[in-house]
Amino acid sequence: MSDPEAAGRPAGTPLVGRDEDLAYIRSFLTDSQVHGAALLLRGEAGVGKTAVLDAVAQGAARHGVQVLRANGVQFEADISYAGLNQLLVPLFDDFDVLDTVHRDALRVAVGIGSGPVPDRLLTSTAALLLRTLAARTPLLIVVDDLPWLDRATNAVLGFVARRLVGSRIGFLAASREGIDGFFESSGLTEHRLGPLTDASSAELLVLAHPDVSPAVRRRIASEARGNPLALVELPRALTAEQRTTLAAVPSVLPLSERLQALFAARVAALDGRCRDLLLIAALDGTDDLATIEAAGADRAVVDDLAPAEQDRLIVISADNRRLSFRHPLIGSAVVEQATAADRRRAHQALAEALEDQPERRAWHLGEAAAGPDETVAALLEEAARRRLRRGDALGAVAALTRAAGLSPAPADESRRLAEAAGRGGLRRCGLRR
Ligand SMILES: Nc1ncnc2c1ncn2[C@@H]1O[C@H](COP(=O)(O)OP(=O)(O)OP(=O)(O)O)[C@@H](O)[C@H]1O
Ligand SMILES: [Mg+2]
Repeated sequence: MSDPEAAGRPAGTPLVGRDEDLAYIRSFLTDSQVHGAALLLRGEAGVGKTAVLDAVAQGAARHGVQVLRANGVQFEADISYAGLNQLLVPLFDDFDVLDTVHRDALRVAVGIGSGPVPDRLLTSTAALLLRTLAARTPLLIVVDDLPWLDRATNAVLGFVARRLVGSRIGFLAASREGIDGFFESSGLTEHRLGPLTDASSAELLVLAHPDVSPAVRRRIASEARGNPLALVELPRALTAEQRTTLAAVPSVLPLSERLQALFAARVAALDGRCRDLLLIAALDGTDDLATIEAAGADRAVVDDLAPAEQDRLIVISADNRRLSFRHPLIGSAVVEQATAADRRRAHQALAEALEDQPERRAWHLGEAAAGPDETVAALLEEAARRRLRRGDALGAVAALTRAAGLSPAPADESRRLAEAAGRGGLRRCGLRR
């Protein structure tokens, strides 16, 4: 998100208190333009990783670096190379620098060509493309929420990130502390984004909430412990009286619970229809308004979502037909509050809306199934074959394992498990959640 308003920072609010972090990251990346380098940004939820990535990406673009971006999404289906596709969209026209074999492999993987892809060829192909292009213009690959990227893209990026030396390619990724994904990060330089200092916290509070009295601001700052998300969001839960009167501010909860509870309370206050639509959006994970409309039975979805928009939980962009949560914790709050039956219903609605996207559809049907179901198991098996053809062996193993779990007949279950084991080993296929 490049727009501060869309990112939840009030319009015009600059990034506060991150000069040292930005200087470190920028000097690291400047070196990378000569030698190639990879940096992993870590930090707790809401500490400002996305905000820092945005600032670095914008700065790099201003200096003539071509920035390629992709974001992992927590609840999104694990679709083969969804992340790689996102990353390479600006380069589709440049695939021509590759020879036919490599070009075709990459086109199949990102879903714009057909034919089989040898698994190993692909990772080296992506690396080759990026290196070739970087010889012309320095590149910066920016990946937010790395652990939530699909596993096939993780494998490619892991390969690329380890082979940047001498390439003029920078790789900058962010990962929330305590979340492990498929990315093999050992050996990468890590930078931990810590809390804001007291002075920076005070500055951000004044910028974001000038109407809150100084005494209440000090109280909020001590509760927020330097977490910008808390600094921006905690005051939103205060009544007009609490904004000015210290005594009226409620007693303290641990910060993580406080933030969760704060979003959960705001989600719970919405009407059922709006919550259902938010659940569909969270479980779809693509930000595509058209999908949410189709899954929401084409009713006046945007109108029904207005309360969530007014409460600054989501941003709807009518121009490019996107719907996004203002912060990933909001999507998590929506999913956590839903019952298992709600989630199954939402997955079912998404499966029906995604008739033309077999891989996503099969995944949603699998999540919607309340018990063994051969039709769904067969669709997942078919999705696994499609993944194999695109060179995503790990994704195929995951789909086969899920198909096995949904097989009513023990013989089908064993057959699918055996095939999964043969396709790359169950050990390598830690399930996504
Ligand atoms: N230094 C800062 N100055 C001003 N606002 C900030 C700063 N850092 C973060 N923010 C704002 O605080 C909120 C949380 O930041 P952000 O989304 O970047 O956190 P995050 O570390 O990416 O969290 P998560 O792990 O959940 O993705 C956003 O609204 C963001 O715009
Ligand atoms: Mg983030």
